[in-house]
Amino acid sequence: MSQSQRALTFRFLAQPTDVNFGGKVHGGAVMKWIDQAAYAAAVGWSGAYCVTAALSGLNFVTPIRIGDLVTVQVTLVATGRSSMQFVVDVLARDLRAGEERLATSCVIVFVALDAADGHPVAVPRWQPHSAADQALAARAAELARLSKAMEQAVLAARADGPFSAPPADPDPAGTGTHASA
Ligand SMILES: CC(C)(COP(=O)(O)OP(=O)(O)OC[C@H]1O[C@@H](n2cnc3c(N)ncnc32)[C@H](O)[C@@H]1OP(=O)(O)O)[C@@H](O)C(=O)NCCC(=O)NCCS
Repeated sequence: MSQSQRALTFRFLAQPTDVNFGGKVHGGAVMKWIDQAAYAAAVGWSGAYCVTAALSGLNFVTPIRIGDLVTVQVTLVATGRSSMQFVVDVLARDLRAGEERLATSCVIVFVALDAADGHPVAVPRWQPHSAADQALAARAAELARLSKAMEQAVLAARADGPFSAPPADPDPAGTGTHASA
């Protein structure tokens, strides 16, 4: 993907090997397609090796059936120094009925790394010019802000250990009074 091309599309059939226990496409398979398509877009834009940094707003709207024609659409909506933010839509088409529906969407952030030392490297900037691109970039910026707030909340919650560990009992002796710091 050259700098003049900020969108990329993968298109393929949902295979029997993608099935989940309910007979539809496995959510993990959809996440892999998203990651692969966005990886290709990120490397194409930056010309560097890239890693996934964050995924937000992931929504499974409708299931994908085995045999559906799947389209994964990736569009660059913001660049930082070394990071690139993409919106991803996964569409599914029933080939017999012909109708296409939105199956999944999300926002994904990739970071370009230097091949030699593995540190983040600068990526070409993308400037939204059209009103539609500016609106998309503004929406992506708002989602990034919300995602950052969520990450901070998770970090705070696991400050004392794994996220799933129960919080410390503020009144371990059961006296009805809470110990204060
Ligand atoms: C992503 C990673 C390279 C960032 O490294 P780092 O030492 O935090 O580097 P920096 O603090 O300089 O951040 C680099 C960029 O990543 C962005 N970034 C880092 N974490 C982020 C997050 N959770 N959400 C969005 N952006 C993030 C920073 O904002 C910064 O962007 P900018 O250069 O455009 O301003 C590092 O955390 C990493 O390697 N994570 C694991 C990646 C991985 O294993 N992915 C799955 C397999 S590919």
